[in-house]
Formats: sequence, C-alpha cells, structure tokens
Amino acid sequence: MEIMVIVAHPYEKSFNHALYQTVIKSLHTNQHHVYAHHLYKEKFNPILTGTELANGKTKDYLVIQHREEIKKVEGLIIIHPNWWGQPPAILKGWMDRVLRSGIAYEFDEGDDGSGVPHGLLKIKTALVFNTSNTPEKREIEVFGDPLERIWKDCVFDFCGVYQVYRKIFRTISGSTPEERKAWLSETKKIVNEFFP
Ligand SMILES: Cc1cc2nc3c(=O)[nH]c(=O)nc-3n(C[C@H](O)[C@H](O)[C@H](O)COP(=O)(O)O)c2cc1C
Repeated sequence: MEIMVIVAHPYEKSFNHALYQTVIKSLHTNQHHVYAHHLYKEKFNPILTGTELANGKTKDYLVIQHREEIKKVEGLIIIHPNWWGQPPAILKGWMDRVLRSGIAYEFDEGDDGSGVPHGLLKIKTALVFNTSNTPEKREIEVFGDPLERIWKDCVFDFCGVYQVYRKIFRTISGSTPEERKAWLSETKKIVNEFFP
C-alpha cells in the first residue's frame, strides 16, 4: 500500500522523531511504499498566500508534490506534539495548502461552501500519533482535547476518511527510558495492526 507519513517537529532527537522512525521502519518491514515527510527539514512553507487562497494554484514544488501524494495514497500517518491544544503551525499550514478544495474535498455544484462537502481522499485509514505533557484527566476536563475534534471531525471526516485511530503518548515530561521504549513498541504494534 502507498502510505504518506508526516512528522511536524523541529528537533530530531525528540520523542516525536523516535515515533517517526519507528513508524517508517514498521511500514518498510511490512513492505509498504512510504512517502515520508519531515516538514521542518523539507522547509515546508506553511503560508497560504492571497493568490493561492483565491485560485487554489501554486508553483511551490513541495506543495504540488504533497498534493499529488495525498490524492493517491491509501494510508496516512501524522505525528506531532500537542502545542497549545493544536498541531504546530507548520502542520496547520500544511493542512491549509495541501488539503484544498478539489484535492481533499468538494462541494456540490451550486453549494456556496456552507453545505456538507464530499470527501475526495482515497485514504482508508489514518493514524495520528500525538505527544503531550498534560495528564488525561486534566486534558479532557480542562481543555476538552481539541486535537480529537480537529483531526477526526474537522479534517478527516470532512475529507472522507472514516477509519481514524489516534494515540496520545503522555506525559512525555518526566517519562523514563523504559516508558518511552514501551511506547515505541506500542507504536509498532498499532502500525502492524492497521498496516500489516
Ligand atoms: C509551543 C509549545 C506549546 C505546547 N503546548 C502544550 C499544550 O497545549 N498541551 C500539552 O499537553 N503540552 C504542550 N506542550 C508540551 C509538548 O506537547 C511536549 O513538549 C511534547 O509533546 C513532548 O514531545 P517531544 O519530546 O517529542 O517534544 C507545548 C510545548 C511547546 C513547545
């Protein structure tokens, strides 16, 4: 299967990058074709210009490449830390520029954009791996886990991706090497389960 993997974290020694390496290795072991993207290293430009907003077109080679890939893959894995209850800005810009109308979704003819769109993506399964420093109880009671709604409802459901599994590793601060090792094993198991 063709699978796109996105990591949005600037530091290669972070736990997020350990997750990214684990995911790629597991997918390769399972003989999938992987399109792996380290957005910071690629210097993905998250800025959606006025012209691009208006006509959807871009000459940005990376954006064109990401759009072509997302249109054809059947699997997507996204890895990022919880930053202010949101994805890092570089990944937010990736959504703005890659998941455009005509690529990820479209509205019926005559719909001014206020209706319910049709998802266009062929992706059957999306996995989201997040890291956080907030214990689960506080995340749910105080913050309402905004990343759950962002990924499942606002992004994937909108784009026609219905099998979505999200795993949050927490709390990263204060975690022991043993805990991290176990989290990486768990990641491998999840990838093997969804992308055998
Ligand atoms: C800009 C910024 C914003 C953050 N906001 C949150 C937050 O809203 N909730 C949270 O639990 N942790 C937050 N954190 C902590 C990160 O989630 C945590 O450092 C990261 O998940 C740890 O993984 P890493 O070692 O791979 O960076 C934030 C960190 C940064 C740098």
